[in-house]
Amino acid sequence: MRGEPDFDTPSHIVEAATRAMKAGRTRYPDNRGEIALRQAVAEKLSRDNGVAYDPTSEVLVTTGATLGIHAALLALLDDGDEVLVPDPIYDAYLSPIVLAGGRVAPVRAAIEEGRFVITARSIEDAITPRSRVLLLNTPWNPVGTVFREPELRAIADVLARQNVILISDEIYEAITYEGCRHVSPSALSADMRDRTVLLNSLSKTYAMTGWRVGYCAAPAPIIQSMFLSLQQSSRGPATFVQDAAAVALTGPQDAVEDMRREYTRRRALVMQSLAGIRHVRVLAPEGGFFAMIDARETAIPSEQIRRRLLQEAGVAVIHGSAYGPGGEGTLRVSFASGGDTLARGLERLRAGLEAL
Ligand SMILES: Cc1ncc(COP(=O)(O)O)c(C=O)c1O
Repeated sequence: MRGEPDFDTPSHIVEAATRAMKAGRTRYPDNRGEIALRQAVAEKLSRDNGVAYDPTSEVLVTTGATLGIHAALLALLDDGDEVLVPDPIYDAYLSPIVLAGGRVAPVRAAIEEGRFVITARSIEDAITPRSRVLLLNTPWNPVGTVFREPELRAIADVLARQNVILISDEIYEAITYEGCRHVSPSALSADMRDRTVLLNSLSKTYAMTGWRVGYCAAPAPIIQSMFLSLQQSSRGPATFVQDAAAVALTGPQDAVEDMRREYTRRRALVMQSLAGIRHVRVLAPEGGFFAMIDARETAIPSEQIRRRLLQEAGVAVIHGSAYGPGGEGTLRVSFASGGDTLARGLERLRAGLEAL
């Protein structure tokens, strides 16, 4: 059910942490992040995302993307500012917006040609004089859409016209399928680089959810504000974790590709196992490790379907309405776990949906 990869962290990363611990890398870290990790982040962003950041002033290391989101919202929002958020969306964005004094302004997504989309037009329609930030996640949890470059360019035009800042959560960037390619919005233009806070984490890419290490990149004044707010909370991941994270970002990337291939196999299994059920269709995910089941034709509320699947079929999925009213009628199926768990889960899910 959850977004928790079942892979072990690649051994060369574990070994790097062990080495660092044995070498006494157990003191307080630099609160901005150890400089070697910030340099590794800058190298990675230039190599993979095609965008240059200065590691001394434009990169911040955070305790997972979760703390990056908090720090960005605290830095950017004044009381009453609105944050435009696609609906449906990763639900854990909502409370930090409120804690930072902001208001959530949903932008309703639609299912078009088998994929969830939000258009530049729908974003523009939701903008008010209080709109300060658009929070985008590509690949998009829960729906699996990978924003295409022309879609992002159209959104970028709206942001520039309306002077809205983008928080871009790119945590699933390494997991894309069938020729879909992750595009970092900050790489689109100098203007987008100036108005974007890029967030990422090692949690999903390297199966490092429990290590709690992520990073942000943005223009120096924003990073400076984020740094000040972060200093009042976590002060960054453990020093030896940061050393291992630098090795993860700059060392061999074979394990990332191996995991992507395995997710590709799991995705195919999900699509096959759930094909041909009356009134139900699976939206093929373009990225991430969740598939959305479109069960709108059943006209049963997704929360009710979720309960029945759990109680009658013994399988856990998440109802789409948990991610906002725009998710009503859909169900999120995770293939972050594979093997027997996934195979048995899919059998139960198929039986449960057929019974429904
Ligand atoms: C879209 C999205 N952003 C952020 C996170 C949290 O990331 P981290 O483990 O780096 O805090 C998750 C975890 O599921 C996620 O799905």
